[in-house]
Amino acid sequence: MSLLDLSPDEVLTTTRAVRKRLDFDRPVERKTIADCLRIALQAPNGGNMNSWRWIVIDDPGLMGQVADLYRGGMDDYIATFGEEGYPGAGVEGADRIETSTMHLRENFHRLPALLLPLIPGRTDAGNTQSHIFYQASQWGSVIQAVWSFMLALRTRGLGSAWTTAHLWRERELAELLGIPFDIYMQVGLFPIAYTLGTDFKPAHREPIEQVVGWNGFGTAATAG
Ligand SMILES: Cc1cc2nc3c(=O)[nH]c(=O)nc-3n(C[C@H](O)[C@H](O)[C@H](O)COP(=O)(O)O)c2cc1C
Repeated sequence: MSLLDLSPDEVLTTTRAVRKRLDFDRPVERKTIADCLRIALQAPNGGNMNSWRWIVIDDPGLMGQVADLYRGGMDDYIATFGEEGYPGAGVEGADRIETSTMHLRENFHRLPALLLPLIPGRTDAGNTQSHIFYQASQWGSVIQAVWSFMLALRTRGLGSAWTTAHLWRERELAELLGIPFDIYMQVGLFPIAYTLGTDFKPAHREPIEQVVGWNGFGTAATAG
């Protein structure tokens, strides 16, 4: 498979959350997914213990069941909103994010493949693992690999989107897939599909002057 002609900076700044432009009808070869996983697993992980686990779902029947859990998890999340509504409602482009999110939700069962990363050591059990050291170490030992996976997809003309909505139904998905729930945390669900076109653009982000402090928390000083 040939790679897209993109510079490293272009890959890093144009790897988007792809939802409306996922090609739900084009199959994805297992070899391509395995290639991206091999790249992803070069990411750093605490003590190089390689304690992560990765589940790829590409069975259409199973995908339908996972899609139901994804949609159910999203409903659970929406049910937590108070009168002020969706927490991100005020951000730039919120309308587009919402229609795009709903598009993925409605078509989730049509995804050719899906990645479910796992990391051991539950940090939500109120035990010593809940200390910030363990939280940072657990999540830091898998998130970088997931982002590498998304970058590797991008260079091959595929796309994904970081999703966490199903985690409101994490236990149900663990039961469906035979995951030992008390040991493994699920990171999220990551669609895998070819994209419709490969031209993606940098997105809106707050400028660094507003979010970066030099030698302290305040952001008054500039980089020069
Ligand atoms: C931690 C995290 C959780 C997210 N959860 C979802 C989700 O459950 N469903 C979804 O459609 N998008 C989800 N997103 C995608 C964001 O909406 C998206 O990254 C954001 O709108 C910015 O778009 P961009 O990544 O293309 O710049 C999530 C992103 C992150 C980083």
